[in-house]
Amino acid sequence: MTLEEKIGQMNQLDPSYDSEAKEALFREGRVGAILNGVEAKEVNRLQRMAVEETRLGIPLLVGRDVIHGFRTIYPIPLGQAATWDPELAEQAAALTADEAVSVGIRWAFSPMVDVARDPRWGRVAEGYGEDSYLASRMAAAVVRGYQSHNMAACVKHFAGYSASEGGRDYNTTWIPEVQLRDVYLPPFKAAVDAGAMSLMCSFNAINGLPSSANKHLNVDILRDEWQSDALLVSDWGSGMDLIPHGLCADRKEAALRCINARMEMDMQGNLYHDYLAELVAEGKVKERQIDECVKSILRMKYRLGLFENPYVPEEEPIAYSAEALALATEAVEQGTVLLKNNGILPLNNKEIQVLVSGPLADQQKEQLGTWVFDGEPEHSVTPLKALRDMGLKVSYEPGLQYSRDKRTSDFAKAVAAASKSDVILFFAGEEAILSGEARCRAELSLPGAQTELLTELKKTGKPIVLVVMAGRPLTIGKEVEMADAVLYSFHGGTMTGPGLANVFTGKAVPSGRLPMTFPKMVGQIPFYYNRLNSGRPCADDAVLMDDIPAGAPQFSIGASSYWLESTVEPLFPFGFGLSYTTFAYSGIEVTKNGEQIEVSGTITNTGMTDAYEVAQLYVHQCSGDLARPICELKGFRKIFIPAGESRTVSFTLTPEQLGYWHEAKKGYESCVWYATDKVDFKIWIAPDSRCQTVPTIISFLN
Ligand code: GLC
Repeated sequence: MTLEEKIGQMNQLDPSYDSEAKEALFREGRVGAILNGVEAKEVNRLQRMAVEETRLGIPLLVGRDVIHGFRTIYPIPLGQAATWDPELAEQAAALTADEAVSVGIRWAFSPMVDVARDPRWGRVAEGYGEDSYLASRMAAAVVRGYQSHNMAACVKHFAGYSASEGGRDYNTTWIPEVQLRDVYLPPFKAAVDAGAMSLMCSFNAINGLPSSANKHLNVDILRDEWQSDALLVSDWGSGMDLIPHGLCADRKEAALRCINARMEMDMQGNLYHDYLAELVAEGKVKERQIDECVKSILRMKYRLGLFENPYVPEEEPIAYSAEALALATEAVEQGTVLLKNNGILPLNNKEIQVLVSGPLADQQKEQLGTWVFDGEPEHSVTPLKALRDMGLKVSYEPGLQYSRDKRTSDFAKAVAAASKSDVILFFAGEEAILSGEARCRAELSLPGAQTELLTELKKTGKPIVLVVMAGRPLTIGKEVEMADAVLYSFHGGTMTGPGLANVFTGKAVPSGRLPMTFPKMVGQIPFYYNRLNSGRPCADDAVLMDDIPAGAPQFSIGASSYWLESTVEPLFPFGFGLSYTTFAYSGIEVTKNGEQIEVSGTITNTGMTDAYEVAQLYVHQCSGDLARPICELKGFRKIFIPAGESRTVSFTLTPEQLGYWHEAKKGYESCVWYATDKVDFKIWIAPDSRCQTVPTIISFLN
């Protein structure tokens, strides 16, 4: 390969921009990959230029933001995490790959595995929540699903992006090395271990160094420690962003910093296209640095079989198969979280008059959620349609036309309809555009006049089922108070309606569990379950603002870690979710078997309905070299238990799983290592992160 041909492979372009100018580049072999080509004929046309008109005939990689489905849209990844069912996510990824590959897309820019602890950040919608273990299980599952069906995964955003200060996208992140390794890197490592063919750099700077120029991240960790041979692609123009980051004076310097940090392909930045040959000629870049990058690119093309078969059938798109629609429905059923229920659900009587209200009850596009380019709203089935198709007696008065609507002019119609109904199903939440990239919020209340409308409906005295469709946790304490039952379905995708209708009527029992802590108020954020205890944890008798006597002297109330408006109680804890039945945990045993720890327990379905339970394994390290979280998820089992029956769940823990990253500093030197402290651990199985069945102390002391 000539130097120009090598550099051409490192250039990824979106052909929908200045396509004429770019066609010459394709014919000259100056482009190695495209993104956003979704029309098989067009993909083949560009592919023929690369394969049949260039000297070497190297095929193009064709990438696309396939995030939670392609034509069939599944719940947003945060909603898929709420299923706590990696196998379901794997199946969804496989069926998604079948649809995308059928039009020529062979590279999905997902899974996004940024562990997110701040729901103000718009991109929590795209990830798998606040826990590294749950995110790791989901990440590996999606990689397997895609790649077993001929589409490369691109694990993103590497790394630490979700720690953006203030929950404001692209913002600075300050992450200690041990926290980077304990919290943010594990899902990437799980994806790499599952064989991920590529990763994508993140936009953020970690401690002042943007990921595209971060050799420690991209070489020391990804290549040397993890031994990954995956392709590392920039995010859209993330190399160019080094200039506004204040790292580089100009694009040429940015190109140099990126290649020296082994960012291997430049997405829509044209940095390598414009400057790499010059930098080699000036001796600032060695050609072997370029060779390393090109090897990664060619390896991925080879693994995808593109050299054997670069073209796609043009008349055989796969879309909306019965299997995909059924799985999408199941994903809604399994990812919907029942947060409250005074018994109003399930609706057992088909004769009752149901009022469907709220701005999200019949929004085919909005229920698909963020990052949907190829899912067609006309295929999306809303709750209103599904309930009518089910034959329920339904009247419909939305009261508001969209989630940010502030007009109260239609409230009276909704209230009048409510007065003639037996139950109100109120669909609230966020339009799709209010979450995702660059869609961060400083408040987490329901937008528009939704709360006001709910308040008016509450005055009718009719029972209310509140259903929230959103791309993040919302501070819905007031609304929960007003409702008789609350379901949180995130943005459920194409089959939101049928999935929810099955849950309303009891045909499906909701089994979702929260993948993120729900704060009571924005002021509690960052707020996550596996926090450190601090030296003065929130006291049980913490005195809240309204309880402080007037004129209270300086030290009249305790000194512990809380807010005067709130204790450290969330609205709902990580892992929480109710069912239409109840479960009892008993007989939890923790024993040492050599170096391993065996944990088992019995779960009994003490109610009248067959249902799934998500048994969660938590640990707490009682002392150690560093302070450790009050609890950490180390395993889970989603298990179906018929009414009245019991099942035993068991887990095996290794010392490795109880370890963490340690750090020692000496002068300017610092070193980190992974180890397990020989100390006591509390270990228990519970239905969520707040419950503590009787924890068992197990000692690793010799
Ligand atoms: C965007 C996103 C990234 C996406 C890429 C291509 O800016 O950060 O997740 O895959 O650009 O659209």
